[in-house]
Amino acid sequence: MNSLSLDSLSELDRPAPLGELFAADPSRAERYVVQAGDLRIDWSKAAVDDTILASLLGIAESSGVVQRRDAMFAGEHINVTEDRAVGHVALRQPRGATFTIDGHDVVPEVHEVLDSMAAFADRVRSEGRIAHVVNIGIGGSDLGPAMADRALRAFRHEDIRCSFVSNVDGADIASVLAGSDPASTLFVVASKTFGTIETLTNARTARTWLVEALGESAVVDHFVAVSTNAERVSEFGIDTANMFGFWDWVGGRYSVDSAIGLSLMISIGPDAFGEFLAGFHLIDEHFRTAPLHENAPVIMALIGVWYANGLGYDTKAVLPYAHDLSRFPAYLQQLDMESNGKSVDLAGNRVQHDTGPIVWGEPGTNGQHAFYQLIHQGTRIIPCDFIGFAHGNHPRQEHQDLLMANLFAQSEALAFGRANDAEPHRNFEGDRPNTVILAERLTPSVLGQLIALYEHIVHVQGTIWGINSYDQWGVELGKELANQITPELTGEPTPDRHDSATNALIDWYRRHRA
Ligand code: F6P
Repeated sequence: MNSLSLDSLSELDRPAPLGELFAADPSRAERYVVQAGDLRIDWSKAAVDDTILASLLGIAESSGVVQRRDAMFAGEHINVTEDRAVGHVALRQPRGATFTIDGHDVVPEVHEVLDSMAAFADRVRSEGRIAHVVNIGIGGSDLGPAMADRALRAFRHEDIRCSFVSNVDGADIASVLAGSDPASTLFVVASKTFGTIETLTNARTARTWLVEALGESAVVDHFVAVSTNAERVSEFGIDTANMFGFWDWVGGRYSVDSAIGLSLMISIGPDAFGEFLAGFHLIDEHFRTAPLHENAPVIMALIGVWYANGLGYDTKAVLPYAHDLSRFPAYLQQLDMESNGKSVDLAGNRVQHDTGPIVWGEPGTNGQHAFYQLIHQGTRIIPCDFIGFAHGNHPRQEHQDLLMANLFAQSEALAFGRANDAEPHRNFEGDRPNTVILAERLTPSVLGQLIALYEHIVHVQGTIWGINSYDQWGVELGKELANQITPELTGEPTPDRHDSATNALIDWYRRHRA
C-alpha cells in the first residue's frame, strides 16, 4: 500500500501535457474510462497519469475511504459534530432491503412515507383540482426539487406546473402569487427544521394570501408540510395529518430523495420518482462494491483532490450540455460547498491543506459565449466536468447534434489547444483538463445516478481531507446576526453590539426606509 500523505502531493511530478500523454499512450482514451450504471465517465483528459493515480489510490486507502464508506452504509454516526448517522443512501433502498440506523431497520418507514407521498401525489394528479404546486423552501429544501423538476421537464404532468419560492426577498413570492389562482394552488412548505426564517416568512405570506381569498377553512386543502419537526408544523397551523416526514439522519442537501421531493413527485408522478430513486441506488451499489480503481466516484474524487492539493486549482466548472440541467450547477454548489467548505478536521484541528473547491457553471452552449474565454486562455486553470446526452428530451435531434458537437469540441480544444506562434492572441496552449460524462438520455434514473455520483465524490473527498462533510456550522453566525439586526432596522438600534461599519450600514438603511 502506498502510504503517501496528502500534504506531499504537491511534491509529485506534474503530469506531462495532455497532448504528450495521449501520444505516448494510444490506449489512454480506453483505459481512462469507467462505466457506472448508465453513465460513461471519460477522465482521459484529466491531468493525471498512472503514477499520480497510483499515489492517489494509495492516499484513498490510507485515509480510510473504504472504511468510512462502509461506516456510512452501516448507519454509523459519521456526522460527529451532530452525533448523527448519514442515511441518505437508505432513502433509495428498494422495498424489502435492510438498512440499520440506531439499531433498527429504517427501510420500512422510508417506504411508508414514500407510499403516503405516492397516494397524495396520485390524488393531486388525478383530481384536477390543483393546477399549480408551489414549493416553499430554501437550500436543500428547494434546490433539489427545483433542479430536478426542471431537469425532468419532459416527464411533468401536463396540467400541473410547479413553482419554487425560496428567497426571503418578497420579489420571489410576489411574482409567484401574482400568476396564481388560490383555488387551484397547493403550497408545499418544505423545511427540515421548520425553523428557517426565509421559509416561514414566505409560508406566512402565502397563507395570508390564501386566507384573504378563500378563508381560513381553505388552509387544510391548500397547505401541506414536509419536515422532521411535527411540533413546529402544527404550531405554524398546518395539520400534521397533512405532513410528510423524514429523519434527522437526512442532511438538507441530501434530501431531494426524501419527502422533500414531494413537489417533484407530484410533477413527474410516483412511478418516475421511483425510477429516480432506483437511479441513485444503482450508483450507491457501484460506489459500495466496485474496487477503488474502477469506482467512478472514487476516481473523480481523487482527481479533484489532485487538482486541489497537488496542482492548486481552486475552482471546478460543471458544464451540462443539456438546457434542462440549468440548475444542476447551483444544486452542486450547495452539495459540494456546504459539505466540504470546511477548515477544521474531525479532531477539531485546523486543516493543513485546501479542502472543497469553488463549484460553478452554466449550461452549454450558453457558457461558451460568456466565460469560456477565460477557461481557454485565462491565467487560471479551471478543470471542467462536461455532461451530455445522445438524445435530448425533445424531437429536434438536429439541435442535439449541434449541441453535442460543441461539447466534444470544447473538451478537445481545452485539452489539446492549437499552437499559433505568429499570433499569440490566437494561441491556444491547451492542457486544460476536463472530464466528460455521457448518458443516452436525461431520464429520472439518469438524473438520480448523476446526483448520487456527485454525492459520493463529495463523501470521498471529505474523507480524504479528514473533515465532516455532513454539518454546516458555517451558516450559523450570519443567521444569528440577521436575527439580531432585523428588529434594529425598525425599532431601537443597539450600536454597542456592532462594529462601526455595520452601524453605518444599519443607520443608512433606517434613514432611507423611513
Ligand atoms: O442554512 C443552511 C441550511 O441549514 C441548509 O443546510 C438547509 O438545506 C437549508 O438551510 C434549509 O433548512 P431547512 O430545510 O431546515 O429549512
